[in-house]
Amino acid sequence: MELSWSHRSSYFPLLLFFLAFLGYYSPCGEATQDLIERVCSKSKDPSVCTKALESDPRSHTADLAGLCQISIDLSTTNAKSTQALVTSLGKKATDKISKEIYNTCLENYTNSISVLGDCTNRLQAGDYAGVNIKASAAQTEVDTCDESFKERKLPEPPTLTNACQKVQKLCNIILVTANMLQGN
Ligand SMILES: *[C@@H]1O[C@H](CO)[C@@H](O)[C@H](O)[C@H]1NC(C)=O
Repeated sequence: MELSWSHRSSYFPLLLFFLAFLGYYSPCGEATQDLIERVCSKSKDPSVCTKALESDPRSHTADLAGLCQISIDLSTTNAKSTQALVTSLGKKATDKISKEIYNTCLENYTNSISVLGDCTNRLQAGDYAGVNIKASAAQTEVDTCDESFKERKLPEPPTLTNACQKVQKLCNIILVTANMLQGN
């Protein structure tokens, strides 16, 4: 049976619609989007998590281990920029107690960056429990900086509070993905 030209062209919009549909629901894309949602729904701050993971182009094709590596990288980048912030705030500090706190914070951020490096090694070795332990340690280091201000009853600059919280939320994604990799 031969279709008339008018007949065929009437199928064209339908075909376009079908192709768009296929593109939207391609198995690969759907799986990754679904994975990001599953990970982020378990994280401390789902909206920060989704935004952070989606900001990395690798996320679109990443599996769970890939998302774990991406969250390690995001945490490291943010820990480094927060470390730079601590350095610049420390230089401006005039009193002894503030200087002490910033020195502690600087050490804690240096530690957290090095421990995040261990996370990558553990992940590459398939040691997901180890990734979990190291990510918790990185989170504790960052939290210690926050706590130092509270302990000494000194107001923490809001930019630093926000940066600390962001790093902790990102470290939390490492914990979530490491737990999921362990089957939890
Ligand atoms: C944070 O830095 C201080 C000062 O160097 C250090 O004593 C402490 O062990 C570090 N880490 C933690 C998690 O407390």
